[in-house]
Amino acid sequence: MKKSTASLLVVGTLLALGSQMAVAAPDWTKVPKRDINVFHPGVTPIEWVGKKSDHSGTAGLKKGETCVGCHEEKGTLNFNFKRLADKELEPKGAPKTMMYPVGVQAVYDASSLYIRLTFKAPPGGADKGDKENEVKAAVMFPDAKVPQASQVGCWASCHIDARTMPGADEKKTKYAKEGSYELMQWKSAKGAKVADGTVTTERKMDGGALGAKAEGSKAGDTYTVTFTRKNPGEGKTVPFGIAIHGDNSTGRFHHVSLGYTLGLGADGDVKATKQ
Ligand code: HEC
Repeated sequence: MKKSTASLLVVGTLLALGSQMAVAAPDWTKVPKRDINVFHPGVTPIEWVGKKSDHSGTAGLKKGETCVGCHEEKGTLNFNFKRLADKELEPKGAPKTMMYPVGVQAVYDASSLYIRLTFKAPPGGADKGDKENEVKAAVMFPDAKVPQASQVGCWASCHIDARTMPGADEKKTKYAKEGSYELMQWKSAKGAKVADGTVTTERKMDGGALGAKAEGSKAGDTYTVTFTRKNPGEGKTVPFGIAIHGDNSTGRFHHVSLGYTLGLGADGDVKATKQ
């Protein structure tokens, strides 16, 4: 055999191995799906949520109640969307669709946790600040030092003085007063980099430790985004929140979930399947 043919054979074998590895990715048909509703939160940062005269959930939150405990009812969210779309809580303009479901599935193996989101991001937004990306999908994980991490999800990073809030500094990103979040984000623009970042005193879109990867596709009007991150550890219950920027929106003009938990061989709103 000539040397060049031999090396071609080697390349062929490596390619075959590569495709076998792709086949070993999660079999999603065997994984239960939990619908989590995302909604347009208007201007209701943690300062608003924690102020008794604005929000009657304040006392319950102090006693340990979760956002989901009060606001999720019969598989939907009980918010007053008229109020959330009104001038006081949404001075710029509300999207036509205030709430929609995101199908969430999770799988883990020895090294990785895979999270798959399936959703239709409806048009009719009020902000089109991102010209490059029609859609962005993000998942954030608060660490145990974030106050009320398992109750409030992403809210501890959402502040009244952050960019796109009324009158705020356009350079100030979301931040955590104590503790930190890990963050991963997929963007729909071709070749866009997957963010593997953190939220501490400021938000950084890279330098994170999740080892985040993501793949997304659109079929009809349905997006499917699959994230891969480092396995946080079997037996753990991990708090998380989801944010979808639809219709070219930026900043606070996303649809967000309340705080949920993901269980890896443990309790959780979403239970990850071992494969
Ligand atoms: C103990 C129950 C309770 C908890 C916990 C709670 N809420 Fe509320 N929330 C309420 C009630 C009752 C209202 C409606 C009346 C009001 O705002 O005073 C409300 C209103 C709201 C509204 C405005 C829309 C509306 O329907 O009036 C938003 C947004 C909201 N809550 C977000 C949150 C978030 C985010 C959390 C967690 C960080 C949370 N709530 C925790 C009880 C709760």
